[in-house]
Amino acid sequence: MAEHFDVVILGGGPGGYAAALYGAAAGLRIALVEESRVGGTCLHRGCIPAKELLQTAEVLRTVRDAAEFGVGVGEPTLDLPVALARKQKVVDKLTKGLESLLKGRQVTVVPGTGMIADAADRRLRVADGTECTGDALVLATGSAPRSIPGIDVDGERVLSSDHVLALDRVPARTAIIGGGAIGCEFASYLHDVGSEVTLLEALPAILPGVDAQVADVVFRAFRRRGISMHTGVHVEGVEGVEPTVVRFTEAGNVSTLEVDAVVVSVGRRPRSEGIGLEGSGVAVDPHGYVVVDGCMRTAVPGVYAVGDLVATPALAHVGFAEAIVAIKSVLGEDPAPLDYDKVPWGIYCHPEVAFSGLTEAVARERGHDVVTSVHRFGGNSRAIVLGETDGMVKIVAERDGPVLGVHLAGPWATELLAEGYLAVSWEATAAEIGALIHAHPTLSELFGETALALTGRGLHG
Ligand code: NAI
Repeated sequence: MAEHFDVVILGGGPGGYAAALYGAAAGLRIALVEESRVGGTCLHRGCIPAKELLQTAEVLRTVRDAAEFGVGVGEPTLDLPVALARKQKVVDKLTKGLESLLKGRQVTVVPGTGMIADAADRRLRVADGTECTGDALVLATGSAPRSIPGIDVDGERVLSSDHVLALDRVPARTAIIGGGAIGCEFASYLHDVGSEVTLLEALPAILPGVDAQVADVVFRAFRRRGISMHTGVHVEGVEGVEPTVVRFTEAGNVSTLEVDAVVVSVGRRPRSEGIGLEGSGVAVDPHGYVVVDGCMRTAVPGVYAVGDLVATPALAHVGFAEAIVAIKSVLGEDPAPLDYDKVPWGIYCHPEVAFSGLTEAVARERGHDVVTSVHRFGGNSRAIVLGETDGMVKIVAERDGPVLGVHLAGPWATELLAEGYLAVSWEATAAEIGALIHAHPTLSELFGETALALTGRGLHG
């Protein structure tokens, strides 16, 4: 006899656990089926371990630059086992915190691999035969790294993001295939810890989807740091061991690159196979994403899907937001669909990138009467004090209208975005932002200055 709950959730990553916590806070009885520890890609194989290792890279850079500040410490060395142990400690602490939150809210965590037994009945079956049913079923099985046909990701020489985060050696030479968010974060990290990095990107520029001027800041900073980049390349194949050879075509010419490791970071794919979707009535698109409406409802009544399993930005905080929408739908609260154009993004390479809203190119494509303002950290007092002057703030706005997009590169950009996100979300005008007082000296005053300049009366240029 299957145990019955108000909501049964398949997958305990950010989408699934947020649905569980939010639903439980609203008084619903929840079962959460998870095959591993709760936390998903974000906590175990993504955001958190990646940011933790990037913090090790930042400490290394700070120590390397210490002499400039009159602090003598000598050349730093990297103890990778200690760094990995710290990373695991951070992950464990957050996992335990999450487990106790779920327990505190009386969420029943069902261990094991689950699959849909009957979608219309909202029934899940777990590997050991346990079944549970719900008035609602939320699918949140997430995503996995994608590879390139013909390239075997063996975890030894050819690595996915999962492998890089557990790597206990620094390859002397690394090729990174794919210059998106993951590729750029790993290029930054691996370079800082001592690898000779070459980034191979298929498109004409790195960081697709990022405003071109901001992506260019990263491109130039990477080049100055000694990261080698090839754009517009077609990777033909990866062969051999010691050395491994990457063959690629660039502007019609075939080149080869000898490396000690290859990282494949060409995107992620939804984990929609093997969870009982075939014949369930739940619609899946040709790329394997579960099809949902603005309330996260699938084609089967009472069945919802959230997070990386649906074709929206593969970000933990998007999963959180979608989980809330799904639970509000379950509760009959008629939630407003999310505005995916305004989602805040953060990319933690050095220099950091963060943005929300439309890029200049997309705003123009959509027919907006666009005005822009760009200010660089090179003139910002706090950035000069920090010795971190690479980067800029760019505001894209409608002429005499609201801010359409805020785009940042530079020191603490991922934290600075919060104000930009509010501006984009609340459709503030440049004059409204310009009238706000920004503390001096701070990095954030560059945002105020950039907005003020759009009124035609900037203070500092
Ligand atoms: P991505 O889609 O952001 O970038 C993949 C890159 O690989 C693209 O630039 C693409 O043009 C390139 N590419 C594809 N096939 C290629 C080929 N055969 N040869 C060379 N280049 C090729 O995917 P990525 O970086 O793997 O990240 C996946 C997702 O994970 C992101 O879209 C994002 O949603 C999420 N993520 C977000 C982060 C953040 O916000 N800090 C960090 C890491 C991941």
